[in-house]
Amino acid sequence: MEQRTLLLGVTGSIAAYKAVEIARDLERRGVHVRVLMTEAATRFIAPLTFEALLKRPVTTSLWESRQSGPIPHIALSESADALLVAPASADIIAKLAGGMADDIVSCTALAFNGPLLVAPAMHANMYEHVATQANLATLRGRGAVIIGPETGELASGGHGAGRMSEPATIVGWTMKTLGRKGDFAGRTVVVTAGGTQEPIDPVRCVTNHSSGKMGYAIAEACRDRGADVILVTAPTGLQPPVGVETVNVVTAQQMYEATRAAVREAHALIMAAAVADYRPSNPAADKIKKERETLVIPLERTVDILKSIEGDFIRVGFAAESSSLEHNARAKLAEKHLDLIAANDITASDAGFGSDNNRVTIMDRDGGIDRLPLLSKREVADRLLDRVAKLLS
Ligand code: CTP
Repeated sequence: MEQRTLLLGVTGSIAAYKAVEIARDLERRGVHVRVLMTEAATRFIAPLTFEALLKRPVTTSLWESRQSGPIPHIALSESADALLVAPASADIIAKLAGGMADDIVSCTALAFNGPLLVAPAMHANMYEHVATQANLATLRGRGAVIIGPETGELASGGHGAGRMSEPATIVGWTMKTLGRKGDFAGRTVVVTAGGTQEPIDPVRCVTNHSSGKMGYAIAEACRDRGADVILVTAPTGLQPPVGVETVNVVTAQQMYEATRAAVREAHALIMAAAVADYRPSNPAADKIKKERETLVIPLERTVDILKSIEGDFIRVGFAAESSSLEHNARAKLAEKHLDLIAANDITASDAGFGSDNNRVTIMDRDGGIDRLPLLSKREVADRLLDRVAKLLS
C-alpha cells in the first residue's frame, strides 16, 4: 500500500511524553510521521527525542524556514493524509474550534483540509468546563474524531476525566482514519478469532491453545485497509482492536449464531477461530467433585460454522494441521466451499499457536498455491487480504 503521511501535533501537557510512543508505533506500522510541536510542548519534551527516533526534523515554529520550506504550515498541510493532535491541551482545542492560527499546530490545522483527530489531555475541571465541551462539540460537528479522554488518575493527583487515551487506542483510531480510502473501503468483513470454550461444569471447559493473535491481526489489517470489521471472538488475553465492532462469545454454538447474524451484510467471512469440534454432551450444573479415580466425559459434535453458514460472500478458512498439510487443507477447501484456505503446520516451533509469527500456505479453489515464508501474523494477514481484495474486485 502507498505510504501515508501523518502530521502529529504535540501540545503542552504532561502527556506529551506519550506522543513519543504514538509516533514510534505509527512509524513501525509504515506511517510517515511528521511532528509539529507548540512552544508549550517543548517545555515537557525535547524535539530532539522525536528527531532522534524518527530521524527527521521536528517543526516547532512558524518562522523556521530551514527544514520545511519558506512557509512551513502550508508545506506541511499539503503533504499529509491526516492530522492528529495528541496530547491536545484545552488551549489548542479552543484554537482549533475558533479557527485561530498563532502557532505551528493551529496554523497547520487551519490550512489542512484532511481528517483531524484530537486526543484531549487536561485536568478534569478544564475538560468539564462548558467552554471546552462546546469547543469539542464544534470539532465533532465538523467531523473531527475526538479520542477519549479517559477517566482515571490525573497528573495533578486528583481523579477524573481528562487523562489522554492510551497510545495504542490513539494509534488504532489513527490507522483507521488513514486507511479509510484503502482497498477495503465500503466493504464489511467478518473475522472470527480465538478458541471456543465448551463448558464441562461451571469452572472447567474444553478448549484449545489458540491465542486469537492471527484473527486479531486480520481484523486490524482489514480496519487499516478501510473495511468495516465485525470481530466475533472467543475469550482471548488480547485487547480488542479499536475501530472494530467486537462481539464476544464463548462457545461454538454462540460463535455460530453471532457469525450467522454478522455475515448478513458482509462481503467476506474470514474464519481464523479455532472452533471446538466437540463439546460435553451434558455440562454439569454444579462443580464436579473428585470422587472417582477416573472420569469419562461424553462429548458431542459442535456445529461446523464455515460449512453451515450460507450466503453470497467470500469465504476464507484456516486449516490447522499436524500432518499432510496441503492434502488436508485442499480437502477442507472443497468440503467447506471456500474461496481460499490458509493452511498452517501447528507442529512448527517458530510459528502458529501463541506466536507472533506464522507460516501459512494459501490455496485457492482453482488449484493455485502460495507457500509464504515465516512472516509476522500482521504480514500474513495483509498477504491474505491481498488475495481477498482481488476476489472482491
Ligand atoms: N471451523 C468451523 N467450525 C468448526 C470447526 C472449524 O467453522 N466447528 C472452521 C475453522 O475456523 C477453520 C476451518 O473450519 O477456518 C478449519 O478448521 P480446522 O480445525 O482446521 O478443521 P476441522 O474442520 O475442525 O477439521 P479437523 O479438526 O478434523 O481437522
